[in-house]
Amino acid sequence: MDTIKTHDPELFEAMENEKRRQEGHLELIASENFVSDAVLEAAGSILTNKYAEGYPGKRYYGGCVHVDTVENLARERLKKLFNVKYVNVQAHSGSTANMAAYRSIIKAGDVVLGMSLDHGGHLTHGHPLNFSGVDYTFHSYGVDEKTERIDYDEVLRVAKAVNPSLIVAGASAYSREIDFKKFREIADQVGAKLMADVAHIAGLIAAGLHNNPCEVADVITSTTHKTLRGPRGGIVMTNDAELYKKINRVVFPGIQGGPLMHVIAAKAAAFEEALSPQFKAYQSAVVENAKALAEALMERGFNVVSGGTDNHLVLVEVKSRTGLTGLDAEKLLEKVNITCNKNTVPNDPEKPFITSGIRLGTPALTTRGFEATDMVEVAALIHDALMNPNNDFALDAVRERVALLTKKYPLYT
Ligand SMILES: Cc1ncc(COP(=O)(O)O)c(C=O)c1O
Repeated sequence: MDTIKTHDPELFEAMENEKRRQEGHLELIASENFVSDAVLEAAGSILTNKYAEGYPGKRYYGGCVHVDTVENLARERLKKLFNVKYVNVQAHSGSTANMAAYRSIIKAGDVVLGMSLDHGGHLTHGHPLNFSGVDYTFHSYGVDEKTERIDYDEVLRVAKAVNPSLIVAGASAYSREIDFKKFREIADQVGAKLMADVAHIAGLIAAGLHNNPCEVADVITSTTHKTLRGPRGGIVMTNDAELYKKINRVVFPGIQGGPLMHVIAAKAAAFEEALSPQFKAYQSAVVENAKALAEALMERGFNVVSGGTDNHLVLVEVKSRTGLTGLDAEKLLEKVNITCNKNTVPNDPEKPFITSGIRLGTPALTTRGFEATDMVEVAALIHDALMNPNNDFALDAVRERVALLTKKYPLYT
């Protein structure tokens, strides 16, 4: 950073401030993480200089011999990680990975069944303003009103009613294990293809802590920057050789031009880390911490959606306990240096920008070294802040306790 510091103080200051924010705040955004030095080095490397349109061995530019090695490393490691035959590591993001999957497997206008966005689905699963909602005819399934879990009988009922060409299994805000085999059975019963979007739970799957959809789905997409703890980016996987050819054509030249070779190098570094026994231990700690956080919040009177969690994520309905909306809660927590995001809860009476809930996740704090006992303190801090929105003395005390925790587990210093 010395060059930026000397030549561009304005940019340097903004970047330093962000570093201080990451260091000094409790990061509870479920889709974020802190990458290793190796991932950071690869993402900030000279590979950003290289154009490499095409795929290893078949590029549209000269000088690709070394980036071919890099991309092949990323591919081979990813195959091993998910026990899958074919992978594309070029997708710039989770959204482009999903676009590639849709375009490879269905055509414009086709009927798709995905998880309702206000029950935990993602924008790319049919939001009317997203390409997915524009290009395809989406219908949705949700969670059961009582259990707040996916009701597979209900998914089958909706699937039979709408007769989709494709079913999408996967979510952005669902804290229970997804039964991909059941989704396969449902898809087979209605003659649909199955896509699994594992953006959130990819790390858990790689560590063997969640069932692996690569065993049953036609196409599997993911981001690489959430539980998987790699650089920002996307991946597309399949066991079908013909579909793989289509996926490659859709990613390039269909959607993207040159791949981000520095990011692909960072993906390779992250996949190598994810193959290690330490990564498995890390993912176990992520889940253990999420369970401890959910328990401690419930003990303090919060309504945790579905009564707990199986993964890295805890969805909390805050309004009935605190009178605050999700938006108010997010802003208040930010004031005391706790970062999370407002989130709709199933059957939320509030608008999506307001919401009644917050979404919390443990991947980032677990990377810092937080343990289950620390998560109990995190729950207490959330409680103390949200129950005292107008009490500056109480909020100051929370801020001080946040500082103690972040100092206990330094990130960059
Ligand atoms: C389930 C799911 N799919 C896809 C995406 C899109 O990823 P990106 O933000 O990289 O486009 C996300 C991101 O939050 C997600 O949660």
